[in-house]
Amino acid sequence: MKQDSTIMQILSILKKHQHQILSGETIAQTAHITRSYVSKVIQGLTAIGYDIESVNRVGYIYHSDQKVLDEAKISSQLKYPKEILILDEVDSTNTFLKHLAKTIDVKELVVVANQQTGGRGRIGRTYVSNPTSGIYFSLLYRPKIAIEYAKKLTCLAGVAVVRAIQKLTGLEAKIKWVNDVYIHGKKVCGILTEASTSIEENAFEYAIIGIGVNCYQQEFSKEVAAIATTLEDEAKCIVSRNDLIAEIINQIDIELSQIESSHFMKEYKAYSFVIGKEVELQKMKESHFVKVIDITKDGELVVEEEGKVYTISSGEITRMVVQSE
Ligand code: BTN
Repeated sequence: MKQDSTIMQILSILKKHQHQILSGETIAQTAHITRSYVSKVIQGLTAIGYDIESVNRVGYIYHSDQKVLDEAKISSQLKYPKEILILDEVDSTNTFLKHLAKTIDVKELVVVANQQTGGRGRIGRTYVSNPTSGIYFSLLYRPKIAIEYAKKLTCLAGVAVVRAIQKLTGLEAKIKWVNDVYIHGKKVCGILTEASTSIEENAFEYAIIGIGVNCYQQEFSKEVAAIATTLEDEAKCIVSRNDLIAEIINQIDIELSQIESSHFMKEYKAYSFVIGKEVELQKMKESHFVKVIDITKDGELVVEEEGKVYTISSGEITRMVVQSE
């Protein structure tokens, strides 16, 4: 508690002198602590997203808290209020929420992490979740809809992300079937939807929508850098992670409340960049070179292979490489 109040005090001293240089000695004297403790606290604040510049041997300049995750700032923007839990670090927000969904009787919950140590993607892939660099969050719903809608939930989330990016950055993102969001040909967001359903009752026990968006410039490995990008790189601006999370949740909630009409599927198709393209699909370790003709109203891919037209669901495919632009 004593520690918390000291951190708040240091923050308030820094904020009072926003954009001005303040020496470590001045902060230490005002807060009645040592200079080394000031430096430790400032390191911690920077790690969770505070933009505090360290000027060598002179002091610190507080710029902004735009990158800091803040439950109140997310909550205050939600159209349909729900509980939000912010964690500094977790293996995977989806895994964490899955355990909670089974053990606690909460109807809706959002879990956000500043970093994931075991972020998961589709088909057992890992999802890079660098600290304070993106949004990594999962939403728990217990929707009263038939289980046939499960596939559409991912499409719905994709549309929500595209809309939110458009609103906050002005950029027109595209969707690579089924759940990757791209900007200028590189992946900026991945979505992992997991559900537990009862076939006898044709109902959901729960559905978890996990979303990761690369927000700020960061160090990617060579392989990742070749295929991934960030909002900051593409939009040349710093988006507030709180605003982005709130906007995505609002867009999901709007469409989930009217999922039976599935209006968003038209939009999903319009955002898709694979329709009309030649693609290589990896299906049960076999490669299929096909042309994408359409996406059905249930989110399945309609393809043509050697004159034969058939549909494929995302579960059947482990890889898709787009051949032609
Ligand atoms: C993919 O690219 O295949 C999907 C990536 C999904 C990543 C998000 S980040 C939040 C949530 N927690 C996870 O472990 N995965 C999802």
